[in-house]
Amino acid sequence: MTIQPIKWGNGRLSLLDQRILPGKERYVECRTYREAAQAIKKMVVRGAPAVGITAAFGVVLGAQAVSARGKRYFLKRFENICEVLAATRPTAVNLFWALERMRKLIENNCDLSSVKIQELLQSEALKILKEDVESNRKIGSFGSRLLKDGDTILTHCNAGALATGGYGTALGVIRAGVDQGKRIQVIADETRPFLQGARLTSWELKKDGIPVTVITDNMAASVMQQKRVDAVIVGADRIAANGDVANKIGTYALGILAGEHHIPFYVAAPISTIDFSIQTGAEIPIEERSSDEVTHIHGRRVVPRGVAVWNPAFDVTPSRYISAIVTDHGIVKKPYGKNLRALISR
Ligand code: MRU
Repeated sequence: MTIQPIKWGNGRLSLLDQRILPGKERYVECRTYREAAQAIKKMVVRGAPAVGITAAFGVVLGAQAVSARGKRYFLKRFENICEVLAATRPTAVNLFWALERMRKLIENNCDLSSVKIQELLQSEALKILKEDVESNRKIGSFGSRLLKDGDTILTHCNAGALATGGYGTALGVIRAGVDQGKRIQVIADETRPFLQGARLTSWELKKDGIPVTVITDNMAASVMQQKRVDAVIVGADRIAANGDVANKIGTYALGILAGEHHIPFYVAAPISTIDFSIQTGAEIPIEERSSDEVTHIHGRRVVPRGVAVWNPAFDVTPSRYISAIVTDHGIVKKPYGKNLRALISR
């Protein structure tokens, strides 16, 4: 079953609305770069690679609107379009990576007409989308070697088709294992407060006929203690040069728990998620989201008015808890500082 979270056609961007899944399968259409930026901010689309792809199409939408007004105007507006898109979510580096890729394309082609540059930008965004699905297939192919027939895998948040151009990173590894005939079951953490695990991961896996059991986040320790988990696989929003990983809040706790119970803890991500410009996870900006996500469930208040609330969307798992990072270029093990660098220079 192919899930397409991001579609492009007739100069319009269509995003599968992840706020209302699994109840409704509806696409939201973005006609302007500001609408694309809002869709990222409001989590119509989410997941590091999907956010990057959407930003690239956001640039295309922005360029479409200004390309007919001459090159000087186009180039001036381009910076502003990128700023608006970059200000949506701070943690996933794929967003900045995709914008940088679009910027480089303009720099390398600035002698062309603005209409021609606009065409190039569209091909580049489509290429980013296509390459992402290919990367996920490679991650799946490398990572599935780590899975055995009969394994039960615990995952957190949604690092599946919905979080990417398609197929998924962590769920891509599971899908590839299943495609090879391995009988694999998944335990999906519900992932408070946005419920990516309960709503999205379970929806995707059910569509594919992969057995999935949802647990609340606070059940993970007990489930591991009962020896019901063979491995943990999660995605990543940003990986520092030393291998520290920012991912959905709650991932760090799983890393500690997996270590305590001697369960392998794997991170699956494309190399575009590695940020070599930062040395450790302490430098990764962590997004704070609205307190409403915690105080309300399905629009209903569950926390008394006036009570303080924290809502960091991500945490950082130190690399010492990570058994391996599965990328589209291969599997990396400790020491991450050295081996991540070696991976990209191969
Ligand atoms: O806040 P979200 O839903 O965008 O967070 C998503 C995650 O934390 C994912 O695990 C990560 O982006 C990897 S997606 C392949």
